[in-house]
Amino acid sequence: MAMNLGIIGAGAIGNVHAETARRAGIPVLGCWDVNPAKGAAFEARHPGAKACRSVDELLAMREVDSVVVAVPNVDHAEVACRALEAGKTVFLEKPMAMSVAECDRIIATLDRTKGRLQMGFVSRSTPASRAVRHFIDEGTFGRIYHVKCSLYRRRGVPGLGGWFTTKAMSGGGPLIDLGVHVIDLALHLAGSPRPQRVSGATYANFGRRMGGYVHTNMWAGPPRLDGTCDVEDHATALIRCEGGLTIEANVTWAMNVDEKHVSNGMTVFGDKGGCFFPIFGKQFAIATEAGGKVADLVPEFASGNVEHDAWDEQYRMFRALAERGERPHADAAAGRRVQSILDAVYRSSAEGREVEVE
Ligand SMILES: NC(=O)c1ccc[n+]([C@@H]2O[C@H](COP(=O)([O-])OP(=O)(O)OC[C@H]3O[C@@H](n4cnc5c(N)ncnc54)[C@H](O)[C@@H]3O)[C@@H](O)[C@H]2O)c1
Repeated sequence: MAMNLGIIGAGAIGNVHAETARRAGIPVLGCWDVNPAKGAAFEARHPGAKACRSVDELLAMREVDSVVVAVPNVDHAEVACRALEAGKTVFLEKPMAMSVAECDRIIATLDRTKGRLQMGFVSRSTPASRAVRHFIDEGTFGRIYHVKCSLYRRRGVPGLGGWFTTKAMSGGGPLIDLGVHVIDLALHLAGSPRPQRVSGATYANFGRRMGGYVHTNMWAGPPRLDGTCDVEDHATALIRCEGGLTIEANVTWAMNVDEKHVSNGMTVFGDKGGCFFPIFGKQFAIATEAGGKVADLVPEFASGNVEHDAWDEQYRMFRALAERGERPHADAAAGRRVQSILDAVYRSSAEGREVEVE
């Protein structure tokens, strides 16, 4: 059956989903947002998409076979489960949920309903990530023993005072916001080994200043000085996996370091090849050996919008999942694996020691 989409959460990323669906020729027939103004704006921007008056109204639309869950993290588990119960194929934005226990609830519902779910780990599908994964599969990197992944922003706290910085709604700061992307990608590139132990630390130095937070622009609107900021703005972790792989993750919403002095992206260390690559970039080299010499392998990419390429690839696989039951771009097990690491980093930071991943 040809796919028809509904969007739950008509905010920033809900609109990116609708634009991607339009490029793919997938009709968006409806949306639901708890904020009626957001629903109305979405309806006006995406002709053919009806702004529903409740989630039940959207889920009852028989012609809508698939839905995107793009609501704040606190409602991921509840909304995803309701959509699965209604028989919809679900695209669940990252992070999977707020805790491993919530991930387990989603997985139990998925199993009971024999449903279909794809996680929104867009970093996997950028041209660079796909190329590196391809070279890894071909053996160019040999055995991967370490991955360093970093996303640093000098001033990038999203929506200070809003849901992103309120732990009860987001589950945390840059670790759960950005860390999910890079930790998932590190595991994905290294063949999805089981995480075993984590040593992590989190810091809160900028966001909690509220009115004293100096910045130039802000994702998710201007600061709400009467709002809450009780999450970290920097996190670092060393993750030990089965088989010996280690992952070093560094994620930051704010710092007093010029961004040109830090490397935003993935550094992959293999015993035959390795590279640093910017996740949303196209210029990098794989360092290896050839002809008895140290040599670089430089992939060339087709021109085009990198973000569109990545989102279009996610949707190519989402459509194959919805229409033909093919494997998702990233599955629920991957979402839970990352969540188990996030939970362990927060626990390790609170206890000040290395902890087991549950
Ligand atoms: N894949 C990515 O790169 C990426 C980027 C940004 C955000 N996200 C994820 O997408 C989700 C949404 O983020 P955003 O930046 O679009 O936030 P946003 O605040 O712009 O949008 C969220 C929308 O959901 C609505 N909403 C809140 N609770 C709801 C509910 N229970 N039912 C229906 N609507 C509800 C809000 O009114 C708002 O319009 C988050 O989980 C975030 O982590 C993913």
